[in-house]
This record gives sequence, C-alpha cells and structure tokens, in this order.
Amino acid sequence: MGEDLRAERVIATTGATGAVGGKVAAQLARLGLAQRLIVRDLNRAPELPKSSAVLAAYEDPAAFGRAVRGAEVLFLVAADHAENREELHRAVIDAAVAEGVRHIVYLSFLNASAAATCVLGREHYATEEYLRTTGVAYTFLRPSLYLDLLPEWIGEDGTIRGPAGEGTVAWVSRDDVADVAAAVLRAPEEHVNRIYNVTGPEAVSLGQTATRLSTLTGRTIVYVPQTPEEAIDFLSSQGLTAREIAERVSACTAIAAGELSTANRTVLRLTGHPARSLEGYLRKNPSALSHAPLFSGSGSALGPR
Ligand SMILES: NC(=O)c1ccc[n+]([C@@H]2O[C@H](COP(=O)([O-])OP(=O)(O)OC[C@H]3O[C@@H](n4cnc5c(N)ncnc54)[C@H](OP(=O)(O)O)[C@@H]3O)[C@@H](O)[C@H]2O)c1
Repeated sequence: MGEDLRAERVIATTGATGAVGGKVAAQLARLGLAQRLIVRDLNRAPELPKSSAVLAAYEDPAAFGRAVRGAEVLFLVAADHAENREELHRAVIDAAVAEGVRHIVYLSFLNASAAATCVLGREHYATEEYLRTTGVAYTFLRPSLYLDLLPEWIGEDGTIRGPAGEGTVAWVSRDDVADVAAAVLRAPEEHVNRIYNVTGPEAVSLGQTATRLSTLTGRTIVYVPQTPEEAIDFLSSQGLTAREIAERVSACTAIAAGELSTANRTVLRLTGHPARSLEGYLRKNPSALSHAPLFSGSGSALGPR
C-alpha cells in the first residue's frame, strides 16, 4: 500500500527548462515518478514520461498555486536575477503552502547564511529563512560553484582572474547536484528539514584549478589574483552586468575568506556514486570547454597540442 501511495505522488518540478531542473526532471522521469513541470514557456518544456507541463511564472502566484495544486512535493529553483527575487520566492512558497504542498526542496547555495560574503549565499538564505517560517517540511540543497560554469571563468588569454586569494572551492557538476535532488525527491520523508551542502570531491584554489586545466588541455592557463576593485574594473571592461559582476566578485571574495572551501561526501552518501572531479567531468564532457574563448572553434579542448 505504501508503494501504491508513493507511485501516485506528484512532484511539482520548477526549472525544467533550465540546466539543473532539466536534469532533475529527466532523472525523476527515469525513476518512473509522476511530475508536473512548471515552466514559463510551454514550447520549451521537456517531454518526459508521466509528466505534464503547466504554465506559471513566479511573477504570477495565482497561476503558480493552480500549477502546484494536488502536488505533494515541490522542487523549487530560484528565480533568475530579478531585483525582487526574494519577494517572488515568498509569493510562490505562500501559493504552494496554501495549495497543500507538504514538502519543498529548495535549490540554495553552499553555506548560505545571513552573513555570507557571496551575494548568492545571502539571497538564498533569506528564502530558506522564509520557508522555515511556513512550517512546511523543507530540504535545502546547497550546491558549491558549478563545474559546468568554469569555462566562463577562463579568459581568451588563458587567465583565470579574480580576488580569490589562495582560498579553495570544491567545484561540483550540475549532474551531481541533479542526482542529489532526485535522490531527495524520490523519498522526501527521509530528508525532512535537512540541509545538505553539495560539493565536488576536493577543494582546490583557483591556481590549482588553472594548473589542472593546463594539464588536461595542454594549453597554458594561469590564475591571476586581483583585488576586488581590479576585478570590478576588469569585469566591467568585459561587458558583464552589475549583477554578474557582484556575483562573480563576491564568489571570489567568499573563496578568499574560506567560506566556500567545504568539500564533503553528500553526493556519495545520497546517490551511491562519488562526486565527479574536474578531470572526471571534463573527460566525460570533452566539449565542455569548447565555448571558453581560449578554445573557441577547437571542438574538444582536451589533450596536448
Ligand atoms: N552559478 C553557480 O555556480 C551556482 C551554484 C549554486 C547554486 N546556484 C543556483 O542554482 C540555480 C539553478 O541553476 P541553473 O544552472 O539550473 O540555472 P538556469 O539554467 O538558468 O535555470 C533556471 C530555471 O529557472 C527558471 N526560472 C527562472 N526564473 C523564473 C521565474 N521568474 N519564473 C519561473 N521560472 C523561472 C528558468 O526558466 P526559463 O528557462 O524560462 O528561463 C529555468 O528553467 C540558480 O538559480 C542559482 O541561484 C548557482
């Protein structure tokens, strides 16, 4: 009977048109779980077994409430970088709770806290705190910096620049984050009011990251430490928005402060497989670096040249 009930459980999945949410939705479908995909463009919703897509942006809490109706569990990916991100989150959480959602699994950020140096850590913590006040069961997944986004850190001159000092970070792949999320969502009752930092296997400095990338690619990649002021000027000259600059610079200063140095075994413990290393990730995804300017047009960036 317990098995029958679990088979009927509907998971409301947000972010299914995005990177992590898309992987989570695909993984839940592989597990045979029923899902409601909450998207803001029906044409981009993935077609998956036992899933239906419903239109609801976070900006429309009434539509969001209708979209989650009947779902027991919600996987909530943060809104993209709207100025009123926290307000949007409060509204969709309220809508979900009002519709009887019993458990919300929220994709947060590593070591989120009110005092976090990284802007993402502070923002996600505010949503976590709000979610706690609702009384609904929660699970907070707090991923480290995404390995998949590392190519964006490499300049066309082969430098990784930032005010990260000699601090370290355990880059984590989005695949691993999605696997952890799916493991929680398939049995949420085992993860009530739990908080999981989700990291790669080993914390490395940006200098070590550059050295490893050099070894893997056969190209010279070096870390150039900056002051925060130098970083802001440099990123502005590269055309990044104020928001992107704030995220990147504060991520670096958080690394420098030792706030992102956590490396743990959450991926192994919850999924049964070890977290992918930088080397393992790039061997599995040899084209991952090809959109970094340094490698543009080179297809697979791996291997000496
Ligand atoms: N950068 C990092 O290293 C890092 C580390 C840890 C955690 N995170 C967090 O992880 C989250 C997910 O990352 P990701 O790579 O999967 O992002 P992504 O590819 O940009 O996906 C975001 C998803 O959320 C949806 N979405 C955004 N705003 C929405 C809104 N107002 N209403 C409805 N849906 C909305 C997007 O829909 P559309 O497809 O319609 O845009 C998309 O499906 C991010 O929010 C970030 O805060 C990032």
